[in-house]
Amino acid sequence: MSPVRNKARAGQHDFVVVASRLPVDRDEGPDGEASWRPSPGGLVTALEPVMREAGGVWVGWSGDAESAPGAFEANGLDLVAVGLSAEQVRDYYEGFCNATLWPLYHDVIARPQFERRWFEAYVAVNRSFAVAAATEAAPGATVWVHDYQLQLVPRMLREQRADVRIGFFNHIPFPCCEIFAQLPWRRQVIEGLLGADLLGFQSRTDAANFLRACRRAAGLPTKGHAIRVRDTDGMREVQAAAFPISIDSAALEVIARRDEVRKRASDIRLALGQPDVLLLGIDRLDYTKGILHRLNAYGELLDEGRLGPQAVLVQVASPSRERVGAYRALRDEVERTVSRINGEHAEVGSPPVHYLHQSYAREEMAALYLAADVMLVTPLRDGMNLVAKEYVACRYDESGALVLSEFTGAADELTSAFGVNPHDIDGLKDAIVRATTIGPAEARRRMRSMRRQVRGHDVASWAASFLDTLRQTPG
Ligand code: F6P
Repeated sequence: MSPVRNKARAGQHDFVVVASRLPVDRDEGPDGEASWRPSPGGLVTALEPVMREAGGVWVGWSGDAESAPGAFEANGLDLVAVGLSAEQVRDYYEGFCNATLWPLYHDVIARPQFERRWFEAYVAVNRSFAVAAATEAAPGATVWVHDYQLQLVPRMLREQRADVRIGFFNHIPFPCCEIFAQLPWRRQVIEGLLGADLLGFQSRTDAANFLRACRRAAGLPTKGHAIRVRDTDGMREVQAAAFPISIDSAALEVIARRDEVRKRASDIRLALGQPDVLLLGIDRLDYTKGILHRLNAYGELLDEGRLGPQAVLVQVASPSRERVGAYRALRDEVERTVSRINGEHAEVGSPPVHYLHQSYAREEMAALYLAADVMLVTPLRDGMNLVAKEYVACRYDESGALVLSEFTGAADELTSAFGVNPHDIDGLKDAIVRATTIGPAEARRRMRSMRRQVRGHDVASWAASFLDTLRQTPG
């Protein structure tokens, strides 16, 4: 896939997605020539059909401090790469996005850093995204902006293009107003978001937190889901509501049912020495995910001999934001903890924790989900957590058990999981033991009910419901 310029189509797209990342990854050949490989996440799966039908374009960043190719085509999709300088990667991405907003919006699990220079970079990068979106949108187009990295884009875009309809979806939690109030630029963020016609959040609590922040931090009146906003050309109403995101459950189940994936699942169990109990954690290596809490609970269960002699934990921790200090510190602590547990409990050839600091293809993930008896999803805070839904989608034989933190958006929907407060190590240990010892009938009852939820609410219905509501929202 090599870049093909499509500048001629600028200004002709009826549907524009604006997201921090492009749905493709850049590869560089030996001659230095760039090519693009699809990085199909949930979002692109959901939006691709809408993009194709509406002649859409996706505006995003490649993930590198490189000169961006601008408009190009990959995999039949029109894409526009927004370029970030090395300073912008440092101040906007690593700084304001991931060392200010990320910890603040995740209930200050880590201490947010407030740097004026970082906010200036955030404003500048949001402006680049808004300009790119304004350039691409056809008259009256629908523009869907995504996530905390781009909260100023809705207003910046409206100032340039009052004719377009603007939706915004926040993929991470929106914090309670006492925490949000710490942000020195809270009013700018609220005003930035309120440039949209419709604001979507993962849960009703997130939407309610935002509405309260509008009243408290910006002094704006709200009524039900609506916020009254004064624009240069009069009053406008913005809607804020919950649209819990999901996965392409049917496609994932198809992968999980493939012969080679099922064979790989039994090979994984074989390679692990056919354990009595296989526990699994799959996370980005992020301090929000509660990986240390999970490891400590597991270590104590091994100390106490409560999991039987043949338990194994596979912990996949995919590399993430590796230049941000809090992430580097977390990696050190996770690896020290894994080492301690293995040092104390391993026998030659059979460590009780298999720690994999790697990223895997969907097929390997599906095989891991199929191989695991119990899935451990223990975030301290998580907007949704799609891993929980992926595990459920793969368990087509209705076996397996899910231990799920009550601080995830997914917990609102997956009520038949073993709910836990990950801070309560004793409670977490009891839930893990219960999940490993339930009978097949109870496991089936719980899994069947979760599968009904995940299959009935997939990512396509999430996108359709947001876009239908946006269409009906008075502009
Ligand atoms: O969940 C929020 C999010 O920004 C996702 O959009 C993304 O997949 C993940 O976190 C990793 O983010 P980054 O772009 O920093 O690698």
